[in-house]
Amino acid sequence: MKFFIDTADTDAIAELHALGMVDGVTTNPSLIMKSGRDFKEVVAEIAAMVPGPVSAETVALDAEGMIAEGRALAGIADNIAVKVPLTWDGLRACKVLTDEGRMVNVTLCFSANQALLAAKAGATFISPFIGRLDDLNIDGMELIEDIRTIYDNYEFDTKILAASIRTANHMKAAALAGADVATAPPGVIKAMASHVLTEKGLETFLKDWASTGQTILDAVT
Ligand code: E4P
Repeated sequence: MKFFIDTADTDAIAELHALGMVDGVTTNPSLIMKSGRDFKEVVAEIAAMVPGPVSAETVALDAEGMIAEGRALAGIADNIAVKVPLTWDGLRACKVLTDEGRMVNVTLCFSANQALLAAKAGATFISPFIGRLDDLNIDGMELIEDIRTIYDNYEFDTKILAASIRTANHMKAAALAGADVATAPPGVIKAMASHVLTEKGLETFLKDWASTGQTILDAVT
């Protein structure tokens, strides 16, 4: 499963990129607002740092507006994926932009039928929002499983990009459900490394090692 980082915080992206954890980045208007930075400047900086797809979202509500915004966004860098909402106009924009050879990420997907329409419209990525469904006591991961089955049944090329990921458990469940990509905030990626038994085990090893009075560098060099 590929990891996209769900943030417009360039320092956080750079830190994870240095570890090989970044296959792409997703932004949305709320994340741009949170960064407090100029939209074009921050998107261009991310796209220059990360070779994989960088999603930048349109804000027009009509297809023509989305297409115009999408073309402008795609002009920022070759690795921009234009993000459009899963509305009828968003699907129209998706078809036009993908026919032009651009990457399109269809976002705000909350049902398998929506995902089926996005695939028919040629979407590069479909973004089902796990966390926002879980917030309503609806199993977001079941949606990933359903979309996986449908896309496999008909051999659609559209990649499933599990989004609105809130916890490390979501990452594991998305991987088990066969998501092609999961996009998560930097904190969730880091939380995947934590385990209480790792911390406890390390504490014991260090305590026992200290009681030997040795140092590794003195012992082996
Ligand atoms: C990414 O593409 C989505 O915009 C993002 O994952 C939404 O996450 P949220 O539901 O935590 O805002």
